[in-house]
Amino acid sequence: MSRREVSVAMVPKRPSSSSYSIRFSFLLQCLVLLALSSSAGATGLFKVRRKFGGLRTSIGDFRAHDNRRHSRMLAVVDLPLGGIGIPTDTGLYYAEIGIGTPPKNFYVQVDTGSDILWVNCITCSSCPKKSDLGFELTLYDPKKSATPSLVSCQDSFCVSTYGDIPGCIANLPCQYKVMYGDGSSTAGFFVTDTVVYNQVSSDHQTKQSNASITFGCGAQQSGDLGSKEALDGILGFGQSNSSMISQLAASGKVSMSFAHCLDTINGGGIFVIGRVVQPKVKTTPLVPDQAHYNVNLKAIEVGGTFLQLPSYLFDTSDKQGTIIDSGTTMTYLPEVAYKRVLNGIFANHPDITFDNVQGFLCFHYPGSVDDGFPDVAFHFENSLLLNVYPHDYFFQNGEDYYCVGWQNGGMMSADGKDIFLIGDLALSNKLVYYDLENQVIGWTEYNCSSSVQVQDGKSGAIYTVDAHNISSGARFQKQSPIFLCLLLLLTLVCNLIF
Ligand SMILES: *[C@@H]1O[C@H](CO)[C@@H](O)[C@H](O)[C@H]1NC(C)=O
Ligand SMILES: *[C@@H]1O[C@H](CO)[C@@H](O)[C@H](O)[C@H]1NC(C)=O
Ligand SMILES: *[C@@H]1O[C@H](CO)[C@@H](O)[C@H](O)[C@H]1NC(C)=O
Ligand SMILES: *[C@@H]1O[C@H](CO)[C@@H](O)[C@H](O)[C@H]1NC(C)=O
Repeated sequence: MSRREVSVAMVPKRPSSSSYSIRFSFLLQCLVLLALSSSAGATGLFKVRRKFGGLRTSIGDFRAHDNRRHSRMLAVVDLPLGGIGIPTDTGLYYAEIGIGTPPKNFYVQVDTGSDILWVNCITCSSCPKKSDLGFELTLYDPKKSATPSLVSCQDSFCVSTYGDIPGCIANLPCQYKVMYGDGSSTAGFFVTDTVVYNQVSSDHQTKQSNASITFGCGAQQSGDLGSKEALDGILGFGQSNSSMISQLAASGKVSMSFAHCLDTINGGGIFVIGRVVQPKVKTTPLVPDQAHYNVNLKAIEVGGTFLQLPSYLFDTSDKQGTIIDSGTTMTYLPEVAYKRVLNGIFANHPDITFDNVQGFLCFHYPGSVDDGFPDVAFHFENSLLLNVYPHDYFFQNGEDYYCVGWQNGGMMSADGKDIFLIGDLALSNKLVYYDLENQVIGWTEYNCSSSVQVQDGKSGAIYTVDAHNISSGARFQKQSPIFLCLLLLLTLVCNLIF
């Protein structure tokens, strides 16, 4: 549909039904503040709010961080996780962070498919005021923090993220806009302030630590971002320099590695930044020079039978590969693969009839889907296997009623090639480890309600980090404000008054 509209690497085709609120992430990030068009963000039956992680043309170079790694000051960060990535439930995972001095609590969606941290700011009139997720939304107010500073368009952060900005003069803010495939968007400007997080200090224990982080101050918003399951913002875990993990690594605070374990059984799960030593995972190389997380798919097996698929689907000459994206709920398969996977899955159930429910194939099935349907296995380079079980590729939508989590096509590369995208229903209940220093990613079956072991870079000690299932509540103390920054949001200009 909108495949060739955008010049960045990837454009998702919208599913045929636009009545539900699927959100694809990060197609464009640009400096120009276009007039924001509101889109019909009708909330349907499913809360499929996962975002598709598109590719950026410029890539971060974090290898320069490697020398800092030897300073051995590298901590492990425990990000408390909440939510549940099932479309009929909250449909997303979020983490809790503190921002400002004194810090205030923010709940941000975790997204490996985008590159910046942004939160809604105080003068945003179009930002959501309420959320059905059970907590108060917080707007970041630089005036109430003692430590904010405006990032100007001349600052190195802005220049290295966007290049030289035409018309940039001193003290003009560094602006951003993120657009999503469903027409929703967020725009604002960058500020730098203290971000407070939990650093692992011993077994099952954390202590507060902080770092100066540059993030987006959201001034305008449109579309589905403001729907009932609204959050304070999004925490992008892409590997480009602008992400929080890259900034933490650049300042020598953490290593460039992180892991998630997304729990669809109890909600929440585990999200740690740093070295995970237990469980051990088998890994596959990341495709080089991609902003996000792409790997080489070799074959697909359904119920022990390898699918006969055209070889171009596995062609690695374009260095694009299959996208591993925990920021998207569903798994997208090129049409020919989709058809064969579905034929394989339903081969023993010719009697099943399907309903089309808001773009999803749904059907009645009495009994256990794990007993009645085959596993689907994706084989990656280096013999890494991703086994997806029926309870992870179907999602339940009522008693004895299931919907299919595979999606037919729609993910296109820049050159128009249909590609694979593995979303987080397929990645859930696994420990997924991103070792960016070695440019590998891997996973293993795991109980995401349990704990993992991490290695502290300072002491070399091994500590246990437990799973979380946060809901609401103020973890970081709130105190009286100190005035610093006057924001004139109508023109998106912020003048620092010291
Ligand atoms: C950040 O850490 C420093 C040093 O530990 C501490 O003095 C300061 O109060 C912390 N800031 C916040 C907002 O927690
Ligand atoms: C990313 O940061 C590193 C050092 O922190 C720097 O050497 C590199 O040039 C940056 N990359 C981009 C694309 O700005
Ligand atoms: C997962 O771990 C939790 C916490 O240790 C435990 O209570 C639960 O029984 C485990 N679940 C399974 C299926 O082993
Ligand atoms: C996890 O938290 C959600 C609310 O955020 C709650 O509905 C759910 O029951 C919790 N799960 C467990 C196992 O406590």
